[in-house]
Amino acid sequence: MQAGLLIRWAVKRDTDAMVDIDRQSYAKAWGEESFIKHLKKRTCIGLVAESEGRIVGFVIYELAKKSLAVLRIAVHPAERRKGVGRAFMERLAGKLTKQLRLFASISVGENDQDAMEFLRACGLKARELYPADPPENGGDVWVFHLECPERSGKES
Ligand SMILES: CC(C)(COP(=O)(O)OP(=O)(O)OC[C@H]1O[C@@H](n2cnc3c(N)ncnc32)[C@H](O)[C@@H]1OP(=O)(O)O)[C@@H](O)C(=O)NCCC(=O)NCCS
Repeated sequence: MQAGLLIRWAVKRDTDAMVDIDRQSYAKAWGEESFIKHLKKRTCIGLVAESEGRIVGFVIYELAKKSLAVLRIAVHPAERRKGVGRAFMERLAGKLTKQLRLFASISVGENDQDAMEFLRACGLKARELYPADPPENGGDVWVFHLECPERSGKES
């Protein structure tokens, strides 16, 4: 992980920074209401990455019984390719256990090549292709899985 990078729970005062990064990262930005709505949900958790006192990225995920689903992940354009996204994925991998949460999932448009490269580089595997309606960036949607490290080793 990048020296000096702090990953912590998101709090309300981080919303503006998350909205700003989201706007610069997604064609269909969430907007403030979506962040507030998701972070109010009991099952949703937001993490931010902070470097030198500035928010440089965030991830929002939702807990299910046996898995967790990444709903949104983004890193400020000026802070990309420095390991922030990977640090988030490593943090999520640490939340997976053989007993409880077996995998993390994330959906990505089949035409979002950079995002898919990122997911593969972080050890996720494409599992299922779903039709997207409306199409996501002109295509269908892949669901990638990150398996619990204890599970993806020798055991089947
Ligand atoms: C995808 C995203 C979160 C990656 O964040 P990041 O902090 O730049 O990622 P990292 O620096 O941790 O990258 C880890 C590895 O992923 C791969 N990777 C990351 N971005 C990539 C890109 N644009 N093209 C190809 N490979 C990429 C590389 O192998 C990289 O390792 P390297 O830099 O040593 O070569 C960021 O680019 C982003 O916010 N994109 C817009 C939002 C988005 O697409 N979110 C959905 C992601 S599924």
